[in-house]
Amino acid sequence: MTANSRRTFAIISHPDAGKTTLTEKLLLQGGAIHLAGEVKARGAARRARSDWMKIEQQRGISVTSSVMTFQKAYDGETITFNLLDTPGHEDFSEDTYRTLTAVDSAVMVIDAAKGIEPQTRKLFEVCRLRSVPIITFVNKVDREGRDPFETLDEVADMLALDVSPQSWPIGMGGQFQGILDFASGAVARPEGPSKEFLGRREENPDIPENFSEEAELAQVGYPEFDAEAYRSGDLTPVYFGSALKNFGIAELIDAIAAHAPPPRPQPAGEGHVAPDRDEVTGFIFKVQANMDPNHRDRIAFMRQVSGTFRRGMKLTPSGLGKPISVHSPILFFAQDRELADTAEAGDIIGIPNHGTLRVGDTLSERNEVRFTGLPNFAPEILRRVQLKDPTKTKQLRKALDDLSEEGVIQVFYPEIGANHIIGVVGQLQLEVFVDRLSVEYKVEAALEPAPFATARWIKGDRKALDEFESFNRANLARDRDGDLVFMAKSPWDVNYQVERNPELTFSATKER
Ligand code: G4P
Repeated sequence: MTANSRRTFAIISHPDAGKTTLTEKLLLQGGAIHLAGEVKARGAARRARSDWMKIEQQRGISVTSSVMTFQKAYDGETITFNLLDTPGHEDFSEDTYRTLTAVDSAVMVIDAAKGIEPQTRKLFEVCRLRSVPIITFVNKVDREGRDPFETLDEVADMLALDVSPQSWPIGMGGQFQGILDFASGAVARPEGPSKEFLGRREENPDIPENFSEEAELAQVGYPEFDAEAYRSGDLTPVYFGSALKNFGIAELIDAIAAHAPPPRPQPAGEGHVAPDRDEVTGFIFKVQANMDPNHRDRIAFMRQVSGTFRRGMKLTPSGLGKPISVHSPILFFAQDRELADTAEAGDIIGIPNHGTLRVGDTLSERNEVRFTGLPNFAPEILRRVQLKDPTKTKQLRKALDDLSEEGVIQVFYPEIGANHIIGVVGQLQLEVFVDRLSVEYKVEAALEPAPFATARWIKGDRKALDEFESFNRANLARDRDGDLVFMAKSPWDVNYQVERNPELTFSATKER
């Protein structure tokens, strides 16, 4: 199997839009899991960790991973889908951003009744920034919803791109009859997998009176699907469906197989690395500690960019400079972690390690390339960590290291004062942090307001930096790499310093 047969994608959505349900149905269709039933929503904090853990807890199956792989055959060609989990919570997090650096496309799930929510928009903007093309799935059409035209127009307006409906719900809510697929003219019915022609309205009283006109309007009133415009991020094809009732799902998978881009060249310094490069290369986009609480293990997730990986292969991590043997890589073929023998560009490999691999590291056979584009974001919320039991300093430090590596939080060590400061981009990350601190590290801590509103990474020549440091020590901290960070009391404070120190740069992101 080649890289061309890979589709590596993420699902982005706002909470409750149906991401978990859709994921489960995709996996069911792909034969990855064989259980039926519906997944119930969990508490916010747990949801934020991984929606697949949620499935796992419900079903007692061993998923515990951030990647799910399934396959489907098309005319003799088997397409391998790598579905990457993004934390399903309101707060846009770095974890989500980094996951989006590892995919080639995304599916945006919208609740038919609710439309697009601000956080989904933010995710969309990240996709756009990274030229990740999006297929839109309007979910829950079996519920009383808004006029589908309204949803389409909202997507077009808010995201400033063309929408191209590929199917249409026949009635919604109580009136719901099925989905008309424009390409084939077939209708998927809510019950059963079979597609059938619903026929003309005169012959079929089930079809709501105005349906034909409506469907026609949807077809002629919007741009036609254009693969190039989709791949360049200027157009999103829109599919209607119901994850819960399991339809529109096959059409969605087929659309991903047909249109979503196979592994793309990835930015690396001056140029790009193409999937057909004759060496294995990849980058770490995520590190997850304590996936198995009994083993305190640590898995680094590598997005493979090129070459054919074989188990036992030697790869050099850029952060380490010397090769490591990848003896027990993990490929994520649903039910269980499987020992991977080979993997292709586009695949995700889990590499167990004890801290040698960090987010942003490049791994390669020849140690020549460096992938770029995995930044840290300036936090929008800063808190002081106050230990309840002062003897736990060491455990706290370990937790801060692990959790900042995972992207749950960022950590800053002030130049003056002993309290660590953590930074997040969204409120919910704080809850997850306190929860995991207590459960996984047995550290009880309180979060107190910090006198800072945001942070900026500072760069400049030695002399200018030293000077700035001597005047502003109370507002300076080091991040976990030891890089200097200006802790600002307000956005005004940032602007003030930017103006006063033209020889320094104040950056809101930091390349990893
Ligand atoms: P999330 O991961 O995006 O947060 O959403 P999740 O799949 O957990 O779904 C959120 C709720 O929406 C779930 O209800 C789920 O059953 C429901 N849902 C998902 N897809 C559909 C659909 O196509 N149609 C309908 N009608 N419902 C759908 P829940 O957690 O059980 O809450 P509740 O329905 O009991 O209040």
